[in-house]
Amino acid sequence: MQKMQNVVVNVNGQILTPEQASVSVFDRSYLYGDSLYEVARTYKGKPLFLHEHLLRMKRSAELCHMALDQPLEIYQKEMQRTLEAFLSLPGQAAVEAYIRIVLSRGIGKIGFGLNCLLSPTQYTIIVQPLNPPSDEQFEKGFRFRVVDRLRNDSRALDPAMKSGNYLNNLLAYLEATNDGFDDALLCNSEGHITEGTTFNIFYARNGIIATPPLDIGILHGLTRHAVIETARQLGYWVREVRFSKERLYEADEVFMTSTIKEVFPVTQVDNSHTSPGPITKKLRDAFRSRVPEWLNA
Ligand SMILES: Cc1ncc(COP(=O)(O)O)c(C=O)c1O
Repeated sequence: MQKMQNVVVNVNGQILTPEQASVSVFDRSYLYGDSLYEVARTYKGKPLFLHEHLLRMKRSAELCHMALDQPLEIYQKEMQRTLEAFLSLPGQAAVEAYIRIVLSRGIGKIGFGLNCLLSPTQYTIIVQPLNPPSDEQFEKGFRFRVVDRLRNDSRALDPAMKSGNYLNNLLAYLEATNDGFDDALLCNSEGHITEGTTFNIFYARNGIIATPPLDIGILHGLTRHAVIETARQLGYWVREVRFSKERLYEADEVFMTSTIKEVFPVTQVDNSHTSPGPITKKLRDAFRSRVPEWLNA
């Protein structure tokens, strides 16, 4: 394997290089995808919404009946410590960081029963340089295909739970990218748009903003929440409604939200094209301008 540069890993409280870090083949994250994860990013070296990410992880743990053997404060402290180790690497002090935590139900004998578990919950943290899309990419926007693969039903692998089992999303991504698109949007079995593989979706038409509601079965995106709140503060009407893909074809603007990509324009959905529009730009700027306020909250 090629050596990874500027990446710091923390395995259950031990800071390691990527080459030193490993997990057991009997870890349930490996055997069953029996794990959860969160991704945060820094602004000027400070992680945004770290506490909110951890609260969402706690909610995910409840949704999959995973008892956490460490308090959230430990995860927060260890994420901060791993970030500091990253920032102290030569040349990384001024670099923004991507911070991922993966939480596994534990290591154990093969078998679903919790009596197979032989360890407490295991956690790994990965901190690496953030690789956000460029301003040039912002002007181009993303091209999304509405794929045939469906978003999981809430009664199956609930999308509100950020589990380590992203195979359905990954297959949706491959379906779209094999067709030459940048990424995928997924519908539910009723033909309503839900979200993307790793992002929430919005559109604007006649000055009104719309996005699928949480109860359609999506991840409760932290950026989605912040953007809805910011848009309402700016006086926009934001509707949380069910809609089919045709609404995206007819929209004036389409944009996506996520921790890493913030507010980002979508300039193509299937064969329908738009340009990065004024609402998307205004929301992206407003989101960024509120970051210091959120960091100090
Ligand atoms: C399926 C899915 N939807 C939406 C999002 C966006 O969530 P957030 O804004 O909290 O990063 C993510 C982020 O990873 C995701 O995986």
